[in-house]
Amino acid sequence: MNESELRFVDATRQLQDRLMHVSRLAAIGEMAAGLAHEINQPLAAVANYAQACERLLGAPQPDLEEVRDALRQITAQAVRAGDIISRLRGLTRERESSRELCDVNALIRELADLLESDARTHNSRCRFELGDGLAPLRLDRAQIQQVILALVRNALEALQERPGDTREVVVSTARAPDGDVLIEVSDNGPGISSEIASRLFEPFCTTKTAGTGLGLASSRTIARAHRGTLDYRPGEPGACFMLRLPAAAQP
Ligand SMILES: Nc1ncnc2c1ncn2[C@@H]1O[C@H](COP(=O)(O)OP(=O)(O)OP(=O)(O)O)[C@@H](O)[C@H]1O
Ligand SMILES: [Mg+2]
Repeated sequence: MNESELRFVDATRQLQDRLMHVSRLAAIGEMAAGLAHEINQPLAAVANYAQACERLLGAPQPDLEEVRDALRQITAQAVRAGDIISRLRGLTRERESSRELCDVNALIRELADLLESDARTHNSRCRFELGDGLAPLRLDRAQIQQVILALVRNALEALQERPGDTREVVVSTARAPDGDVLIEVSDNGPGISSEIASRLFEPFCTTKTAGTGLGLASSRTIARAHRGTLDYRPGEPGACFMLRLPAAAQP
């Protein structure tokens, strides 16, 4: 490369850096706005219920059962706000993660009871198709289990929109030709519309009234912290999420 070409490469790199910086700032701004909105809701509810308590207790013969109900709501809303904050912390993934050599199928079997009972309460079925010959991986098992739970929970929630008695979630594992481990969670629910599909993994992207939209965003952060990927593809029918964990290059 001659000198002017080198200068051009340098200028391009500087522009790219600036662009990265600006888009990072934009993402942080977007997230802050979403966060303010998400946390405002439970806080406003806490203030309302607290006012209601004051009013109820001001009556000559306060109805203590009503006061107790309002206090329970205050607790639930405060827990919800705390939950949003702790899941957001999970997005930045600064915390030390503890890695150990794991058998992915065993990790899923440990969750099976929980997933099956979650499915039953959603009038659905959860089936497992666990493949052979998977390499043991160095993983933070709690984090990977959290991802699988989030994906199955999403599938079960989506299946509620589907009438009938054939609602099913399938959790499968397989060894990719290059040795990577693939974990798929698929369902026969309504699937995902194309306008949502492009924003699925953004924080606070949700179509649910009680959703925070952090499930997929934090799951992808966990996948990347393991040098893996988490992606969506339309199922036939329904939705399918694929978690790919590399067999090599484990930190
Ligand atoms: N299996 C699925 N089928 C259909 N839609 C899905 C599925 N999984 C995710 N989605 C869509 O993606 C959105 C984002 O999912 P995500 O898990 O990030 O947030 P959420 O489930 O809405 O809220 P949270 O997980 O924080 O309680 C959902 O609101 C839903 O619209
Ligand atoms: Mg979710």
